[in-house]
Amino acid sequence: MKFQSILFSIAIILTTLAYTILSNLVKHDHSTSISKRHTTLSKLVKRDFSTTIFQPPSWYEVPRTLYARTLLLTVNDKRGTILATWENYSGGKTFFPIFRSIDHGKTWKWFSNVSDEVNGWGLRYQPFLYELKEDFGCYKAGSILLAGNSIPANLSETKIDLYISTDKGLTWKFLSHIAHGGEADPTNGKTPIWEPFLLIYKGKLHCYYSDQRDPKYGQKLVHQSSSNLKTWSKVVNDVTDPEYAERPGMASIAKMGNGKYIYSFEYCGKRNCNVYYKISKDPTRWNHINATQLITQGGTAPFSSPYTIWTPVGEECDGKGKKTKNGTVVTNSYSDGALYVNKHNGEPNAWYKISTPSPAQYTRSLAVGFNPKDIIIVGGGDLKDVGPLKGRNNSVTFYSRDVNGCDYCS
Ligand SMILES: *[C@@H]1O[C@H](CO)[C@@H](O)[C@H](O)[C@H]1NC(C)=O
Ligand SMILES: *[C@@H]1O[C@H](CO)[C@@H](O)[C@H](O)[C@H]1NC(C)=O
Ligand SMILES: *[C@@H]1O[C@H](CO)[C@@H](O)[C@H](O)[C@H]1NC(C)=O
Ligand SMILES: *[C@@H]1O[C@H](CO)[C@@H](O)[C@H](O)[C@H]1NC(C)=O
Ligand SMILES: *[C@@H]1O[C@H](CO)[C@@H](O)[C@H](O)[C@H]1NC(C)=O
Ligand SMILES: *[C@@H]1O[C@H](CO)[C@@H](O)[C@H](O)[C@H]1NC(C)=O
Repeated sequence: MKFQSILFSIAIILTTLAYTILSNLVKHDHSTSISKRHTTLSKLVKRDFSTTIFQPPSWYEVPRTLYARTLLLTVNDKRGTILATWENYSGGKTFFPIFRSIDHGKTWKWFSNVSDEVNGWGLRYQPFLYELKEDFGCYKAGSILLAGNSIPANLSETKIDLYISTDKGLTWKFLSHIAHGGEADPTNGKTPIWEPFLLIYKGKLHCYYSDQRDPKYGQKLVHQSSSNLKTWSKVVNDVTDPEYAERPGMASIAKMGNGKYIYSFEYCGKRNCNVYYKISKDPTRWNHINATQLITQGGTAPFSSPYTIWTPVGEECDGKGKKTKNGTVVTNSYSDGALYVNKHNGEPNAWYKISTPSPAQYTRSLAVGFNPKDIIIVGGGDLKDVGPLKGRNNSVTFYSRDVNGCDYCS
């Protein structure tokens, strides 16, 4: 007994010593890491972390989960609550689950469900979460909007509907139908609508989405606007292509450090779903602006279902997370697990690629974390026909990635 406890104490002393030496080494490595990018990468990666938000049981219909979206609450919320939602494939009348984390993403609990209250179809595809930063219409700042695609089990119709929560995501209420389309089938000539994205600008909520209803275009990107969350303006074109078979889709928009907006999208059709973007001072006027393809300095051209955000953190290399005027535009897509960053307000020659431990997923949403140098990546897995496991092993995952360090550049 005695002998063992002496051994135990020696073991503790040795462990402490080893730990002290190691952490000093790590600290040292960290400060000199710019010149030793490759040797320090594995240590630095430990500052990032990942976790599983939801592991679906195997009886769920493949692909089980997909298309996750996330939101960091910032209004009257000092602890950095994060919500996540996604498509849940289970057949029948579907709904959007809301999961919540109050410890910056480390642990998650099932918090509520957003269920179809009006169509009798279910809420099936492409949920999107948005927080009102200021009072809007008769709703208080801090209310949360959810837009999503309501589709019956036989996929015969598509409706982009808007829901609201005035209690931080615990309960939800139907607000309005934004748009109504035909069968949920992406073949050109069918008339569905897809993939809503919300943004408030100058006292109006704008809903951007993909639209196959116009006989002139296989698919185009459009928006509609509302000042009361109930009634919606007519459809305004954002991205159209003179060639019918081209399919711009998957809108997301971020306001950059110079006050301009960047609108990223996939350009399917002849362009292989490559990621393109437009930049405008006014996020309600896009169709006259030419699109630029996102290609990195190293020549990578990401493709499929991009998602773009902006964080005020933008220093080049010292890892402390300093805010700068330009900040950083951050994009990702389904072609790989990387993040694509731009510290020059979206200038075409200023994109570079940052690796992440997350695999590519359809589709990963990005959000600025509680610490704005950390980018939150939430995904629901692979499509049934594209991806290594064909959606047979999907789960909903959370990755937190420091976007700041040059140590990660490749
Ligand atoms: C997914 O759908 C199934 C079947 O309707 C339901 O039982 C389950 O609660 C849903 N899970 C989530 C996380 O939404
Ligand atoms: C969401 O709905 C599912 C299916 O009805 C239910 O099992 C689950 O408990 C609900 N979750 C919450 C948090 O209400
Ligand atoms: C598809 O389902 C909807 C909702 O249940 C129903 O109203 C419609 O008749 C069905 N359409 C077809 C073609 O089966
Ligand atoms: C946009 O592209 C068209 C066709 O390539 C070109 O003629 C036009 O000059 C471009 N406009 C701007 C503002 O770059
Ligand atoms: C900020 O972006 C502009 C382009 O909009 C670029 O000219 C400038 O060099 C950038 N500043 C920094 C500090 O990177
Ligand atoms: C399936 O997913 C689990 C957890 O997400 C992971 O640990 C496992 O390696 C995956 N299986 C395969 C064959 O990739």
